[in-house]
Amino acid sequence: MFATKAIDTDDKSALYDELTQQLDGLLSGERDAIANAANTAALLFNTLPDLNWAGFYFLKSPDELVLGPFQGKPACVRIAVGRGVCGAAVAQRRTMLVEDVHAFADHIACDAASRSELVVPLIRDGRVLGVIDLDSPLPAHFDSDDQRGIEAVAAIYLKASDD
Ligand code: SME
Repeated sequence: MFATKAIDTDDKSALYDELTQQLDGLLSGERDAIANAANTAALLFNTLPDLNWAGFYFLKSPDELVLGPFQGKPACVRIAVGRGVCGAAVAQRRTMLVEDVHAFADHIACDAASRSELVVPLIRDGRVLGVIDLDSPLPAHFDSDDQRGIEAVAAIYLKASDD
């Protein structure tokens, strides 16, 4: 059994140090992409404060993301590349940090509670495989520490998992 440890959330760099260590342990010895995505989503959702959704979308064809493992309310299954925050992260091949989803013209509302969002693309050898998506019910919840932290999570996930 893997026990997630309580993490002091006042110090964000300590939080992400601890989270990435736990993730390394959680994924070690397993290369299945879906199993590792499922455990990554569960760890994120259960250790990071004030999230209402945490999960993966995978690029199953060149122009469409499909819902992967997640924690939170049921979500939109398919997102066209270039649409919404997730599709923008794929099209622009960069992290999207959205302080106010209501001010992001093309935001796709899966859960009406979401107020801010962080989407990190999964890029291996120049190929976008999908995204990690975090939603918070608090406006401006995510900052550059979260961006760095979730980019580190994405790198660990990619290193630990086969396509
Ligand atoms: N808000 C996302 C859609 C996915 S849900 O947040 C789970 C977007 O605009 O791409």
